[in-house]
Amino acid sequence: MRICFKMFWNKYASVKIIMNTAFEGDTFIAKELIKLRDRFGLTHCIETGSQYGSTTIELAAIFENVITIEADDAYFGKAKERLSELKNVNVLFGMSEEVLLKLFFSDNVLYYLDAHGDRIGGCPLKEELEIIASKGHKNVCIAIHDFKVPGKNFGFDTFDYELCYEEIEPYLKMVYPDGFDYHYNEEADGARQGIAYFYPIKKI
Ligand SMILES: C[S@@+](CC[C@H](N)C(=O)[O-])C[C@H]1O[C@@H](n2cnc3c(N)ncnc32)[C@H](O)[C@@H]1O
Repeated sequence: MRICFKMFWNKYASVKIIMNTAFEGDTFIAKELIKLRDRFGLTHCIETGSQYGSTTIELAAIFENVITIEADDAYFGKAKERLSELKNVNVLFGMSEEVLLKLFFSDNVLYYLDAHGDRIGGCPLKEELEIIASKGHKNVCIAIHDFKVPGKNFGFDTFDYELCYEEIEPYLKMVYPDGFDYHYNEEADGARQGIAYFYPIKKI
C-alpha cells in the first residue's frame, strides 16, 4: 500500500513538474521557435492558454513582446503574479477567441496556440485561426501544441475534433492566402507532445 502510494505520488509529482515547466518540459520547442524568429524576423508573440505562465517566461526571453491570454481566473491570477516582473509581457484575462478579436495585431508575430481543455474545456483553435485570418496582418507564424504528428507516437489532444492538419487546413488557407508551409516536431522530450509549425511560403 505504502509502495503503491509512493509510486502514485512520484508519478503525480513528475506530471505536475512537467506542467509547470516551459513547453511542458520539451526542450526542442524553444530551439525551433528561435529558428522561426530568426528566419522570419519575428518580434512579437501571442500565446493562448497561459496556465502557470511557465512557457510565457521562455517566450519572453525569445521575443521582444509577449501577450498571453488565459480564461481560467485561478490560472490567470497565478500567471499574472508570476510574470509581473517581466516588462515585455502582458497577461490578459478572457476566452482567447474573444480577447483576440479586440487585440491590435502587429505584423511579424508568432502565435503559440495552446488554449484548450483543463477546467475551461473545449478548443477554440478554429475560431482563433479565423480571427487571425480576419486581421490580415503580415508575416505570421503559428505553432500549435498538442497536435497530431503523423508517424510519431507523440501525444495530441482531441476535443470535438482531433488537433490535426486535416481539421484546420481550410483555416490555414484563410490565414495564408499566398500559401504556407509547415513542419512537425521530429523529436520530443518532457511531456512528449506533438507540435506543428506553420509559416508563409514566400519568405523561405
Ligand atoms: C495546455 S494548458 C496551457 C499550457 C501553457 N501554454 C504552457 O505551455 O505552460 C491550456 C490552458 O488553456 C486555458 N484555456 C482553455 N480554453 C481557453 C480559452 N478558450 N481561452 C483561453 N484560455 C483557455 C486553460 O485554462 C489552460 O490553462
